[in-house]
Amino acid sequence: MNDPYSTEPALENLLEQARQAALNSYSPYSGFRVGAALKLTNGEIVTGTNVENISYGLTICAERSALVQAVSQFGPEIRIEAVAVANLNHAASPPCGACRQVLAEFICPEAPVLFPAADGPRTMPFSDLLPLAFDMKLK
Ligand code: THU
Repeated sequence: MNDPYSTEPALENLLEQARQAALNSYSPYSGFRVGAALKLTNGEIVTGTNVENISYGLTICAERSALVQAVSQFGPEIRIEAVAVANLNHAASPPCGACRQVLAEFICPEAPVLFPAADGPRTMPFSDLLPLAFDMKLK
């Protein structure tokens, strides 16, 4: 149960949806195909993939793509209770710092985040991934 290399069964379906989303990746510059799936507290699952741009810095990561989709579909009150990230390149793919900060706005701190590490899938609570997010109400 505490094996960091095992994937919790409850997250298996979410991971599969992240993999499906990664099939739609637009990544002609990096070739790195990423998918993200968010489980919302309203029971819905929303996915996204990375969308690159020839002006490289305008690229949108899979995690933020999914988050924007979730708010667009279900509104500003959404809360994320689990996240799965997949890449089709068999590479490590933890959510980048920018995505962590954007997720922080909508995610339950204890939400499990499943992502590929170099040695296999890893699951961590969101609060371990971003313990001190920017927050103007920080105490
Ligand atoms: N990428 C993501 O989709 N999520 C991340 O958290 C980090 C990176 C994408 C952006 C770019 O298209 C490719 O991976 C290589 O950086």
